[in-house]
Amino acid sequence: MFEHVLIERDDALLTIRLNRPEKKNALTRAIYHAMADALHAAATDEGVRVVILAGGTDFTAGNDITDFATVSDRPASEPGAAFTFLEAMVAFPKPVIAAVRGYAVGIGTTLLLHCDAVVASETARLQMPFTRLALVPEAGSSLLLPARVGAAKANWWLLSGSAFSGAEAAQAGLATRAVPDNEVDPVAVEMARILATLPPGSVAESKRLIRAPHATALRQAMDAERLAFGERLRTAEAQAAFAGFLTKKA
Ligand code: COA
Repeated sequence: MFEHVLIERDDALLTIRLNRPEKKNALTRAIYHAMADALHAAATDEGVRVVILAGGTDFTAGNDITDFATVSDRPASEPGAAFTFLEAMVAFPKPVIAAVRGYAVGIGTTLLLHCDAVVASETARLQMPFTRLALVPEAGSSLLLPARVGAAKANWWLLSGSAFSGAEAAQAGLATRAVPDNEVDPVAVEMARILATLPPGSVAESKRLIRAPHATALRQAMDAERLAFGERLRTAEAQAAFAGFLTKKA
């Protein structure tokens, strides 16, 4: 099994756990593919009723910036690994619960918009620093975030890249619950068990109906963001921002 993504099974619950703590669970292309593969397998495994997405002391510091910095080494037409993962999230028919502790940066925050419930540590630190990296919103966040938390907060968080806590995320409606840090995983499991006892056909159909009103607009937003994001990645200002992060760290 790939060491950076652990798959844990407990009866009807499947946990996909990010495990690259030395890099704050920054997401490489291999990690995205492993998560997408796990979702594809879980979608057709009748024994799996609910998926939990979790990390450790950090959820994830977002896309690995080294991969952003080397984007020009790959053909522009190549579908990004993050996109493959997001497509798997959008298509996934069963409930997904995120358990968020520590840093949840970039896609670490935007992927929460595709989960059915989010348990955040009160002290988690969420951030969408796209403009700070000379990028643009992704994962449908330009559509889903304002719909979820209102334009006032969404505009500020997406335009300024300011960080906010798990407690603020719950207050705004981005997280379902904010709990003390040591309760995040147990509460996520407790909520997952509740969903796992319910008739799976009814739960899946309910999830589909909840998402249906946004489905076409989400597709359009994700396509538009993907195009703009791909272009921004290759700009001099974005490459300078990535180099800045990587040199500082080096
Ligand atoms: N991509 C690649 N490496 C990353 C990373 C990322 N997104 N986030 C963290 N890392 C690496 C650091 O380079 C460092 O590696 P090193 O030990 O080899 O130097 C290690 O993970 C630990 O991170 P560090 O920055 O030292 O921890 P910190 O507690 O000081 O800061 C963050 C944590 C999350 C605030 C900081 O790592 C950060 O800003 N990361 C980038 C977040 C980001 O912009 N993501 C992309 C969004 S689109």
